[in-house]
Amino acid sequence: MLFYLLSIPNLLIQQLMSSRRKFLNDSIAGTLSLGLLGVNATVVASSETCATQRPTTKGMDKALVISTWNHGLVANDAAWQVIGKGGRAIDAVEQGVKLVEADPKVTSVGYGGLPDRDGKVTLDACIMDEKGNGGAVCFLQHIKHPISVARKVMDETPHVILAGAGALRFALDHGFEKENLLTPGAKAAWEKWKKEAAYKPIINVENHDTIGLLAMDQHGDIAGACTTSGLAYKMHGRVGDSPILGAGLFVDNEVGGATATGMGEAVLKTLGSFLVVELMRQGRTPAEACKEAVMRIIKKQKYKDIQVGYIAINKEGAYGSYCIHPGFNYALLQNGKQGVMVDADYYKG
Ligand code: GLY
Repeated sequence: MLFYLLSIPNLLIQQLMSSRRKFLNDSIAGTLSLGLLGVNATVVASSETCATQRPTTKGMDKALVISTWNHGLVANDAAWQVIGKGGRAIDAVEQGVKLVEADPKVTSVGYGGLPDRDGKVTLDACIMDEKGNGGAVCFLQHIKHPISVARKVMDETPHVILAGAGALRFALDHGFEKENLLTPGAKAAWEKWKKEAAYKPIINVENHDTIGLLAMDQHGDIAGACTTSGLAYKMHGRVGDSPILGAGLFVDNEVGGATATGMGEAVLKTLGSFLVVELMRQGRTPAEACKEAVMRIIKKQKYKDIQVGYIAINKEGAYGSYCIHPGFNYALLQNGKQGVMVDADYYKG
């Protein structure tokens, strides 16, 4: 499955990661206008070390939202609109990622996502609440908000995952609209790709990857959501880590939550988000747990040409992250303050 990844030139990856770093550096102390929601968020690019930051007070001060990549800034703001009013984390995470699913400029999530090799946009998503409930959809086409379908699977069926045509039928039966998710821009990119049809997924660059969002509400309850269009130009039918509880996302309200971004196959083979939560249960900080989950990939898999990043929060409201290669960042919003971007710590060999 990963044979094509081995052909990614390291140099190309480094150049592209360097572009991302340049973007982050350019953003220091700048203001990024985020058209969605009309939000203006000051983006402070700061580096993270393995030392986990620990908020000290409870209630509102402890509440936080954390999510992958720059598109997490607007998602966090939308999530905070729920949490700031005393709402539940599960509602916050759904509202947060929906904003990114609807944004045609984000080409790795929802509407506007890059299609598979057959030109079909196929979506994966999952959601987990504070009670240990979970719902997911995978290989879902034509529905702009797979996260809301996943929520309905969780809330209104005895099942956890619905796939493909069954997931679509379920969505239509529950009032979701059938839409064409292939935007003109994504179609043009696919047609250009088809000329060579070479499989060279570039995880840090496909206009970012999965959005995974974790939130702790004012009641101290934790929930998470994860949604993606998956690898651009993947094989038709491919499902990644994002809709799999324990892989792309895991929440245990006694301990914390974790979510993944990057090459789903590597996350699936290590059940990474479950691993992060279990490591936190054993006493690791979120950053330490994320680092160990990345190290499991590094020890056993061909990691040089793939990116995987984890973010995690624990019950104390501490947070952390780790990734394989530089270039992964996450958005953090605490106490209703302005959102910031944080560069994840990464493996240095
Ligand atoms: N992490 C998203 C995917 O591999 O599909």
